[in-house]
Amino acid sequence: MSRLHVDHADLVRFAEDKVNLPRDKAQEYRAQARRLREKLEGYLAEHPDFTLKKMMLSGSLAKGTALRSLNDIDVACYISGASAPSDIAALLEYLAERLRKAFPNFSPDQVQPQTYSVTASFRGSGLDVDVVPILYDSDPQWYGNLVSQEDGSFLKTSIPLHLEFAGKRKTAQPTHFAQIVRLAKYWTRIMKRERDGFRFKSFMVEMVLAHLADGGADFSDYPEALQHFFTYIARSDFRERIVFSDYYAPRTVGSFTEPVQIIDPVNAENNVCRLYTAQQADMIVEAALDAGDALDAALAAPTKQETVYYWQKIFGSSFQV
Ligand SMILES: Nc1ncnc2c1ncn2[C@@H]1O[C@H](COP(=O)(O)OP(=O)(O)OP(=O)(O)O)[C@@H](O)[C@H]1O
Ligand SMILES: [Mg+2]
Repeated sequence: MSRLHVDHADLVRFAEDKVNLPRDKAQEYRAQARRLREKLEGYLAEHPDFTLKKMMLSGSLAKGTALRSLNDIDVACYISGASAPSDIAALLEYLAERLRKAFPNFSPDQVQPQTYSVTASFRGSGLDVDVVPILYDSDPQWYGNLVSQEDGSFLKTSIPLHLEFAGKRKTAQPTHFAQIVRLAKYWTRIMKRERDGFRFKSFMVEMVLAHLADGGADFSDYPEALQHFFTYIARSDFRERIVFSDYYAPRTVGSFTEPVQIIDPVNAENNVCRLYTAQQADMIVEAALDAGDALDAALAAPTKQETVYYWQKIFGSSFQV
C-alpha cells in the first residue's frame, strides 16, 4: 500500500480536527447531564414516591464516540409505576409534567414533548438535553422498555449494559475502537447528505465494528481498519446475522425474518435493524463498495491531489491534508 500522501497519521489529525467532539466540549456536556441527574436525585430524596427514578447519560456522549456535530445530549429517564401511561403521546406529556416538577427552575416552555422524547432546553449556554423515557420495573440491571427513537415502539434493553459492552471493546483496543466508530459514523453522515434515502444508524455501525473487533480485527491502522469495515459490509451483503455472546448464549437467539439482523447484545429478542428494508441494506452495501474502491484508489494514487480526491469520496470535501 502506498502511504506517501495520506497515511494513518493524517487520519488521526483529520479525526481530531474535523470528526471528534473536542474533549472540553464532551466534559462540559457530561457535566450538564450530571447536574440534571443530581437534581433529580435530590428531589427523589425528598419525594421517595416520585415515579422518575433515575436519569442516565446514554448514547455517544456516554460511550466516548460523539462527533463534533453532536446536537443534543441523550439522557434516558427511568419511569416506574402503574400510573405511567403506555400510549406514547400521553407518556411524553406525563414525563414532561414530572420533569417540570423536579426541575422548578425550568420554565414550563423549556420542557417540551417531541415525537418520541422530551427536550429540556437550556437558555444561553449548553446543548438541549433530549430525555428518552424508559418504562422500568426495578430491574437490578436497569432493563426496561426504551421508547424507540425511530418509531416510538418499546424496546426491552439495558443502557448500562450497552455502556459496559462498548467499554469492553474500548478496553481491548484503547483509543482505536472509539476512533474507528467515530470515523465510520462520520462516513455515514456524508453518505446521508449525498445519497437520498440512505440510513445507517450509529448503534448499528458500532455493532458491526464490535463484531469485527471481536473477530480479531486490529484497528490500530486507520486506513486498514476502515477498509476492513467497508469490505465486511460489501462481502456479507449486509445480510449476515451478527450476534454477541456477552449476555446470552448465541444459540438462544430465535429466528428473525428481517433482511438485516444485528441482535441487541443485551436482549436476544431485539433485532436492532428490524426497520431496515432490503433496499436500504442495498444502499449501505453499495456505499460501502464505493468507499472500499475509493480507499484502494487513494492508496494507489500517484499524486497527493489524486489521493485527497479519493479520500474526499469517503469523508467529503472537509477532508484535507
Ligand atoms: N434498536 C435499539 N435497540 C436497543 N437499544 C438501542 C437501539 N437503538 C439505540 N439504542 C440505545 O440508544 C443508544 C444511542 O443510539 P444511537 O444510535 O443514537 O447511537 P449514538 O451512539 O448515540 O450515536 P449518535 O452520536 O449518532 O447519536 C445506544 O447506545 C443504545 O443504548
Ligand atoms: Mg445519540
